[in-house]
Amino acid sequence: MPRLVQPPTLQISQSLLFFFFISQLCSNSLADVGTAAQYSPPYLPTSCDGSNPAQFPSSNLFGAAGDGIWDNGASCGRQYLVRCISASRPGTCIPDQTIQIKIVDYALTSQSRPSVDATTIVLSSTAFATIANSSADSINIEFQQ
Ligand SMILES: *[C@@H]1O[C@H](CO)[C@@H](O)[C@H](O)[C@H]1NC(C)=O
Repeated sequence: MPRLVQPPTLQISQSLLFFFFISQLCSNSLADVGTAAQYSPPYLPTSCDGSNPAQFPSSNLFGAAGDGIWDNGASCGRQYLVRCISASRPGTCIPDQTIQIKIVDYALTSQSRPSVDATTIVLSSTAFATIANSSADSINIEFQQ
């Protein structure tokens, strides 16, 4: 006969998970603001994991780190939540769109060049177009690891 009541140990571990989740939310709730440019294929990373295709998420949501978050290469493989907050041209941001991207390269040496230099992050064209009008060169973003 199937058990309808969960054993107490499972309930406890679920509560712990829940509190862990909440505390993570609180400790990470301070997002940073920065800027994002975009870059286009071919994506042939020279930093991080070279041109290993396995490092690219199948979603095509990835990016190259600018100096502000590069962290001497420690940022490779990190995931960031990114949201467009404004741009020089009103209406550029697509409202209520947050993407999760993975860092696969270093913006200063990427072979495919960013639409604008010296941004916090450079998004793949797919990632950029998911949160903003793709004809924009750069946007202001809120981001959080
Ligand atoms: C995107 O921006 C271009 C020019 O900046 C504009 O012509 C176009 O209508 C915009 N597209 C959308 C979907 O807002």
